[in-house]
Amino acid sequence: MYLYEGIEKAEKRIRAVLVGCGEQATNMIHNAISYLDEVEIVAVCDRNPERAEYAQKRLGCAGCYLDLGQMLSEVEADCAFVVTIAALQAKLARQCVEAGLHVYTEKPLGTELDDLQALYETARSKGRKIGVSFNKRFNPAYYDMKKAIISETFGRPNAFIAKFIGGYRSNETDLLRVGSCHFFDLARYLVGEVEEVFAYCYEEQPGRHTFAVSARFENGCVGSMTFGSLGSWVCGYGMEYVEVRGDRNMVSAENGRDFTWQKPSLIAQSDTGLADKGTQAVTERSVPVEILRPNYSNLGKLALKDFYINGNYQSVKAFVSSVLNDTEPPVGYRDGLLALKLALAVEKSVSENRAVKLAEI
Ligand SMILES: NC(=O)c1ccc[n+]([C@@H]2O[C@H](COP(=O)([O-])OP(=O)(O)OC[C@H]3O[C@@H](n4cnc5c(N)ncnc54)[C@H](O)[C@@H]3O)[C@@H](O)[C@H]2O)c1
Repeated sequence: MYLYEGIEKAEKRIRAVLVGCGEQATNMIHNAISYLDEVEIVAVCDRNPERAEYAQKRLGCAGCYLDLGQMLSEVEADCAFVVTIAALQAKLARQCVEAGLHVYTEKPLGTELDDLQALYETARSKGRKIGVSFNKRFNPAYYDMKKAIISETFGRPNAFIAKFIGGYRSNETDLLRVGSCHFFDLARYLVGEVEEVFAYCYEEQPGRHTFAVSARFENGCVGSMTFGSLGSWVCGYGMEYVEVRGDRNMVSAENGRDFTWQKPSLIAQSDTGLADKGTQAVTERSVPVEILRPNYSNLGKLALKDFYINGNYQSVKAFVSSVLNDTEPPVGYRDGLLALKLALAVEKSVSENRAVKLAEI
C-alpha cells in the first residue's frame, strides 16, 4: 500500500545532459529544467570540477564529467542543454548533435557564421533539432506586448524603440553579438524582419561602448536602438526598455517588467462641435493609460520565480515539447542566425560608415 494514495509520479520521458554549470546554468537553466516533469537530468559536464560536482549534487544525477566528449560517449541521452561560453556554444552544440542529441543552447547560438553553418549542416544530416534560448520572447511582459501588437486595434507598427545598457563587456563584439542579441531577436519577433541598419559607435575605452542603431524593417517600420556597456550591472534600473508604436497605440516594457499598453484615443463625437476643428488636442479625448501588471495575490509559486519571469522555464518547456511531439522548436537555428547577422550588420555599418542591408551579411 502506498502511503500517499493518488499522488502520481511524473513520467520522465526525456533524458537530458547539461553542458556548462556556470552562473546562467545554475541560476536559471538548471532550475527551469528541474521544474519540468518530462525531463530527467542524467549527467552534467563542466571544465571546472567544482562547478560540475556542485551541479551533480544539487540535481541529484549520476553522471559528472569534465570532458564533453567523454560524457557523450558514456551517457545515453535524448538532448543536451548547452550553457557555456558564447564563442563555444555552436561548436559544443555541434559535438552533441554529432553524437545524435537534440540541442538547446543558451543565447547566442554562436558568434561566428562559419560555426553556425557547420552546426546547421550536422543537425540537418543527423535529423536533430536546435533550440535557442531567446527567453525574452517568453517573458510575460514581452509575451503580452506581442499579443497587443497582433491584436485587431493595434494597427501597423511604425516605430520600434529599444535600449539595453549594461556594464563592462570584454569588447564590442561581446556587447553586440552576445549581449544585444536578445533585442535583435525581439525586434524580429515583435515587428518583423529588418532590412537595413545604420549605426554609430561611441568608444570611451576598450570594453566601454555605446552604439546608436537606426533600422528599417521590411514592412516599413523604422527602429531606433541603443546598446551600451557604459552602465552598471548592479544598478538594475534603466538597463532595458522596449517600445513599439502602431497608429495611436503604444506598448512598452521597462526592464522586462511593467508592461504598459496605451490604447487608441477616442475620437470626440461630432455633437460636441469639436470633431472637425482639425487638431489632435480637440478632436481626441484623453484616455487613461492601461497598465497591465500581474496580480501577485493570485500567482502560483512558479510564476514568481525569476526563471519564469525571465521566460527561461517557458522557453525550455517549448523546446522539450518540440522534442516530445517531433515538431520544429518555436525558436531555433534561423532565429540564432538572424540575430547574429544583425550584430554583424551593425559592426559593418560602423566600420564602413554606411547603411548595411541584412542581405549583404
Ligand atoms: N538568456 C540570458 O539572458 C543569459 C544571461 C546570462 C548569460 N547567458 C548566456 O549563458 C551562457 C553562459 O554564461 P554564464 O554567465 O553562465 O558564464 P559562466 O562563465 O559563469 O559559465 C560558463 C561555464 O561554462 C564552462 N565551460 C567552458 N568551456 C566548457 C567546455 N568546453 N565544456 C564544458 N563546460 C565548459 C565554464 O567552466 C563555466 O562554468 C553564455 O552563452 C551567455 O551568453 C544568457
